[in-house]
Amino acid sequence: MLSTPTYDPLDPATLANPYPVLAAMRASTPVFWHEGMQSWALTRYADCVAVLRDHERFARDRRRAGAVVPEPSLSVQSLDPPEQAPVRSLFMNALRAQDLDGIERRARSLLAARFSRLAELTEFDVMADIAAPLAVAVISDLLGVEEPGVDSFAAVSDAIMRSMDAGLDPATVEPGRVARQELSALVESWFRTSDRPGLQSHVRERADIVSDGDLDVFVRNTARVMFQGGYSTMVAAVGNAVHTLLQEPIALERMRDSAMLGTGVDELVRFDGPVQGTSRIATVPAEISGVTVNAGETVLILFAAANHDPAQFPEPERLLLDRSPNRHLGYGWGTHSCIGTAPAQTALRALVASLLEHPTPLRAAGPPRRRRTATMRVFDLLPATFRR
Ligand code: HEM
Repeated sequence: MLSTPTYDPLDPATLANPYPVLAAMRASTPVFWHEGMQSWALTRYADCVAVLRDHERFARDRRRAGAVVPEPSLSVQSLDPPEQAPVRSLFMNALRAQDLDGIERRARSLLAARFSRLAELTEFDVMADIAAPLAVAVISDLLGVEEPGVDSFAAVSDAIMRSMDAGLDPATVEPGRVARQELSALVESWFRTSDRPGLQSHVRERADIVSDGDLDVFVRNTARVMFQGGYSTMVAAVGNAVHTLLQEPIALERMRDSAMLGTGVDELVRFDGPVQGTSRIATVPAEISGVTVNAGETVLILFAAANHDPAQFPEPERLLLDRSPNRHLGYGWGTHSCIGTAPAQTALRALVASLLEHPTPLRAAGPPRRRRTATMRVFDLLPATFRR
């Protein structure tokens, strides 16, 4: 008799490659109850999109299900329409006003300088030596703030990232709360002192015009979410992209073509993206693929499963750089979709172009190590070398 598959995101085999077990879940029980996460997990692309679209029946804002949400957690990410709308449009408009070409040029010169230093080494860690400094530079440049020290910022960011798995590991809650406080203090100091042009000053000027007490709090909290969320997803995305390209050197070569580079960085996020899922709470009883979800229950949208659903993506396990259509969920969908997609694509393009420009190819230099986290798919260690 065949045993029923089970999904444990922290199982070592699943951390190494989550897609086979997610495919097995989709085939056997596409909507399943996950006891550890106390959630209904969705594995079909169509079900995930339907829930993300329907913010009336599936809330992000936990207050709509009676929960108390502490003020520091109220941001674009945790509010729902209509309260979310002014904050989201303030940040979206500010982002559109930024010089992404300039950010891409600066990212490329940073990478060229780093690569030539790293070229001497028999081994280095892509995560610490490329992904973290690139992400911190791009996000600081975008927001228009002084770069925090990479090491101390990485520690704060990691504590917040780990606390996203609080449902599976309650021990991560308190370090996450302390880290959020530290980051809030940093953001406060930017709002008081930073006069570097960028998204932050743009938002500050516009927020003053429309200022009321709540909006002010939401704006500051959103600035914190953007910096930390943008940094941690970008680090993870860079690591995952490099890892994929180390396995697929021909794909890297094909990205010398600029059209292929443009679509390819998106396919890399579908293929092995950093954000594995998100959650919503049912505000009324709802049926999803024949399963009844009660009001107040949590629904887990598994982006990683949706992005490998063969009903939406033919040959989902192949990296097809010019895949079309490619409406993947790596950047989410709907009213909470990623605000930072364009700068993230900018950073990934700069990374790939810089790898192609370097005189020697990057090669794996040892076994990589995945971090034991469920929400974010990220490497702790990714050894590589430019030496022949
Ligand atoms: C490759 C890198 C990135 C990936 C894969 C990514 C992915 C995502 C995903 C999946 C969501 C939706 C989560 C949900 O529905 O609950 C999201 C939301 C968000 N992202 Fe990104 N992101 C990336 C980079 C960035 C960057 C660079 C920034 C900031 C500059 C950023 C800012 C945000 C914000 C503020 C939200 C919340 C939007 C809202 O709830 O309205 N992201 N991101």
